[in-house]
Amino acid sequence: MSTVATKLTRYALVGTGGRGWSFVRSVVDTYSDHSALVGLCDVNPGRLAHYNERLEKEGHGGVPAFDPDGFDRMIEQTRPDVVIVTTVDAHHDHYIVRALELGCDVITEKPMTTDDERCRRILDAVERTGRRVRVTFNYRFGAAASHLRKLLSEGLVGEVISVNMDYMLDVRHGADYFRRWHREKALSGGLLVHKATHHFDLVNWWIDAVPEEVFAYGRLAFYGRENARRRGEEYPYERYTGHVTTEQDPFALDLSANESLKALYLDNEKYDGYRRDQNVFGEGITIEDSMSLVAKYRTGVQLTYSLNAFLPKEGYQVTFNGTRGRLTFSAGATPHIITGEGDETDVAYRHECFYHPSFGKPEAIELPKAGKGGHGGADPVLHEQIFNPDAPADPLGRNAGHEQGAASILVGIAANRAIETGQPARIDQLCPQLGDRRNLSELI
Ligand SMILES: NC(=O)c1ccc[n+]([C@@H]2O[C@H](COP(=O)([O-])OP(=O)(O)OC[C@H]3O[C@@H](n4cnc5c(N)ncnc54)[C@H](O)[C@@H]3O)[C@@H](O)[C@H]2O)c1
Repeated sequence: MSTVATKLTRYALVGTGGRGWSFVRSVVDTYSDHSALVGLCDVNPGRLAHYNERLEKEGHGGVPAFDPDGFDRMIEQTRPDVVIVTTVDAHHDHYIVRALELGCDVITEKPMTTDDERCRRILDAVERTGRRVRVTFNYRFGAAASHLRKLLSEGLVGEVISVNMDYMLDVRHGADYFRRWHREKALSGGLLVHKATHHFDLVNWWIDAVPEEVFAYGRLAFYGRENARRRGEEYPYERYTGHVTTEQDPFALDLSANESLKALYLDNEKYDGYRRDQNVFGEGITIEDSMSLVAKYRTGVQLTYSLNAFLPKEGYQVTFNGTRGRLTFSAGATPHIITGEGDETDVAYRHECFYHPSFGKPEAIELPKAGKGGHGGADPVLHEQIFNPDAPADPLGRNAGHEQGAASILVGIAANRAIETGQPARIDQLCPQLGDRRNLSELI
């Protein structure tokens, strides 16, 4: 057991999968002068044991481990100040609300949750308990994303009138969402929530606006058995490991070939039956792989957005059209590799940014270099803000609470609603708690 002094902030973590470890590392290692890990909770006893073995091996000492039924007991016995939520998306709300009710603050991974009912539940629980929820929008902390926010807030393009964003997920990283639990809309909210929460959050924050109304189309057009059959292709295996190699099928993922993937997932299938390497051209996929939407903000700004998850190239382009000119930014990361430590390790990142004034010569904008660490150096900057009480103040307003967490998922939730109904969906109807505030900076 680690020695826990009273001045340390005490953290318990629920969801001991790929992403959870980056938080554990910050608590027990990078910021151990300020923090202590006191408990772990997960539905899979094998993954809990794996975390504790890793903690022991790295010399930090194991911590008490609990199953979901033992969550309340974990809070009572280990007395965390803060619960870190890194479970499957559709279970976030359960742990967030319960942790708040039991007197803890919460740090949750994105997306805060997956549908409007769960979102309202979380907002009501914060109101009722007076506790704090923080949503870890790491993309805001990337050097380039932060610089764009600075340029826009300084008025480079004047008043922003419209935004276009085109997000590309490639056949490595994009495909991975169709191998895992993310392939089920009931668990992830689909990519419009699970993935695009990052993108809608960036737009909301860049233009400092609260979304008002959304219309969308989306379909499963590439992955899934039906689409493969339509193209005359057959992939007669439910999973990859032990059935097919990447030479035979480039979409294959061999969990036994990667030490981390094996230890986290393959070795622990016996406990919950979860397979992390399902055939992307198999049955049971209920999310879309191609999505387009238009949204209107309460400030009047219009957004067009697309997300495709089967492309040869990974990255995004975003354009801000303003009263004084046009700012374009593109980011590319190729190739992506899949590891057990989160789902996206960028091997190489390239950024380009241009400003076209309405009158005058276009100019290339020099961007700050990406830092070292996960997500183009964004993760370590975010973790410093979270775990270091002496972190410098953040003039860019990159720390997001429950309301800003809601504002981002609500674009995806409204888009899902529009896809179901064929009608535009209004944010105030999905979440009256945001009131009529127009600027994101007015939200917690
Ligand atoms: N910010 C980012 O860039 C980023 C990157 C990766 C993942 N994430 C987020 O982190 C979270 C975890 O993703 P991951 O990739 O680690 O997934 P994962 O599948 O590796 O881990 C999820 C863990 O939750 C556990 N779990 C499932 N149901 C549970 C329940 N009812 N109660 C308790 N535990 C349960 C699983 O056993 C597993 O250990 C997700 O919300 C995801 O969106 C964020």
